[in-house]
Amino acid sequence: MGLIRLLYQNKSVILFCLFTYVLFWLTIGTFKQSTELNKTQQSNGLKHRSNSTFYFIFDHLLQLKVNLLLIDPYVLNYLFIEQLSFDKLERQLITFAITDDLVERFIQYFQETIFSITISENILSNHKTSIDHIFIEYKQKIIHLAILHKYKSFYLIEENILPLSENIQLSYGDTLRAVEPVEVNVHEYSFFYPQNVSHFLWLYQTSKFLHCNRVLADEMEDQFHLYQNASQLNLTVTPMKNIAYGLNELEKHYWLAGGTLLGWYRHCGLIPFTQDADFGLFAEEYDESIRNYFLGNPIAYLWGALGLVNDSLEFRLYTGRFTLDLFWAYREGDHRWCGYQVHRAKFRRTLPLLETLCSCDLFGTRFSIPCSPTSYLDGEYGKDKWKSPLEKNYTWINMKFHSLWNDISWMYAVRLYTRQGKLRTDQFAFDWISNHFNYSITSIPSFFNILPNEPVTLPPLKTKLVYGSPIKKKKSRKKSKSTRKKRLI
Ligand SMILES: *[C@@H]1O[C@H](CO)[C@@H](O)[C@H](O)[C@H]1NC(C)=O
Ligand SMILES: *[C@@H]1O[C@H](CO)[C@@H](O)[C@H](O)[C@H]1NC(C)=O
Ligand SMILES: *[C@@H]1O[C@H](CO)[C@@H](O)[C@H](O)[C@H]1NC(C)=O
Ligand SMILES: *[C@@H]1O[C@H](CO)[C@@H](O)[C@H](O)[C@H]1NC(C)=O
Ligand SMILES: *[C@@H]1O[C@H](CO)[C@@H](O)[C@H](O)[C@H]1NC(C)=O
Ligand SMILES: *[C@@H]1O[C@H](CO)[C@@H](O)[C@H](O)[C@H]1NC(C)=O
Ligand SMILES: *[C@@H]1O[C@H](CO)[C@@H](O)[C@H](O)[C@H]1NC(C)=O
Repeated sequence: MGLIRLLYQNKSVILFCLFTYVLFWLTIGTFKQSTELNKTQQSNGLKHRSNSTFYFIFDHLLQLKVNLLLIDPYVLNYLFIEQLSFDKLERQLITFAITDDLVERFIQYFQETIFSITISENILSNHKTSIDHIFIEYKQKIIHLAILHKYKSFYLIEENILPLSENIQLSYGDTLRAVEPVEVNVHEYSFFYPQNVSHFLWLYQTSKFLHCNRVLADEMEDQFHLYQNASQLNLTVTPMKNIAYGLNELEKHYWLAGGTLLGWYRHCGLIPFTQDADFGLFAEEYDESIRNYFLGNPIAYLWGALGLVNDSLEFRLYTGRFTLDLFWAYREGDHRWCGYQVHRAKFRRTLPLLETLCSCDLFGTRFSIPCSPTSYLDGEYGKDKWKSPLEKNYTWINMKFHSLWNDISWMYAVRLYTRQGKLRTDQFAFDWISNHFNYSITSIPSFFNILPNEPVTLPPLKTKLVYGSPIKKKKSRKKSKSTRKKRLI
């Protein structure tokens, strides 16, 4: 009976896992199987002959059965977003990706040809060489092949170290970048391109890849005896992946924040004694699709939405055993701020603007992070303070009292939800609002965390004020308690 019940309870989780698994293999499969397709196309000859120099080079590459995946953001945008003709493309260089298992075959064949070939190689730590970029030049046109090196569940493209002429700006090879496996289509000139070009371009913006600090991570184990906690990982990894997956699908930027960012950078994993996981999001990208994704989500459901959509919004997600926080960062001048609420008090943390985000690997999955993780951590914890583990008496230096929610806003600033995604109206949810409210509420307004457009009438005043001036003192005590670090970093 136990098993059946377990299966039943976790049915949606299992379905979700199965779904992502199938999707993943489909993707790799399409790219690999394409050799078959090339054969048929080749024997039939290509329908669309072109005089373009690029076409001439493709034609030779095709005979090699090298599958080219167009990843050049400019050209993808030109062909598939603006829908312009390839033959009119004025470009000196086009970037394609090939997987590293095809490199040998390629090099052998292209030794004796009319093309000029240059190769960017790196010496690895184990003295092997790794070929990272190949430039095929013919009549001043260059096909740039960026080599995809498999890395965990995605690919990496290394930085190019070959000198190039000054007017060439590489889109890949300019820096280390991550590329996720994608489903592909075939272009009439027989190269592949991502099926969802706009999504691929969206991912490109945050593809710059950063490694965690292996030296610090080893120190955490050797010096501080802080090892990765297997049972904590068990609770955390799947929900974190689910959040990243969902936000990527919705094309909402996020970054690993607070202790989660610190865990990635300092431990190359999680801080072993951490109690939750934090994600930051851009307030200007908020829309209800995010709430809808997490309402009743089988892996990490929206437990509570705190704050208002335009002020200090925070989602607390709960798996049943582990809490994950999403908080929205509001742009203001040259920085951002995000809110944290303790009863009716609003606190704010100051964050950098984060104009671009980067990528990292955590648990074998790509996650987004700030592009300067160390300066982000300096801002959160104090310069270099985070480099050694702190367990006791830590104070949030980056948490300032801002104001109290006024009575009208307070009515809307807390919404709790059931695991099934329904608004909670039980005593617990009711008390949360009512205990800090000067007015009597008899029901929880069904509005989401947005003030309604029309003027709001407050409910009747409580006959006995429970929230007068004496309680204010109690509140300020709570305030100072909350700025003292309860969570550990
Ligand atoms: C290719 O060039 C030849 C002669 O220069 C011309 O007749 C032909 O129309 C061109 N083909 C295309 C597809 O532009
Ligand atoms: C983690 O989960 C796996 C599978 O659910 C289980 O076999 C393993 O014992 C768990 N490990 C810990 C330390 O809880
Ligand atoms: C490991 O994680 C579990 C589950 O979160 C927690 O109960 C336990 O205290 C952690 N162990 C250590 C040594 O931090
Ligand atoms: C491309 O991906 C985005 C984000 O997942 C999605 O909203 C959009 O519908 C997709 N477009 C196509 C044509 O599949
Ligand atoms: C949020 O919106 C409300 C009502 O539209 C407004 O009174 C309030 O000032 C806004 N808050 C912020 C932080 O902009
Ligand atoms: C924490 O702070 C209190 C008061 O500031 C102090 O008495 C105590 O020794 C501190 N504990 C540690 C472990 O630093
Ligand atoms: C509650 O009402 C009292 C009396 O009107 C007022 O003095 C007090 O500031 C109110 N409390 C809050 C938190 O708004």
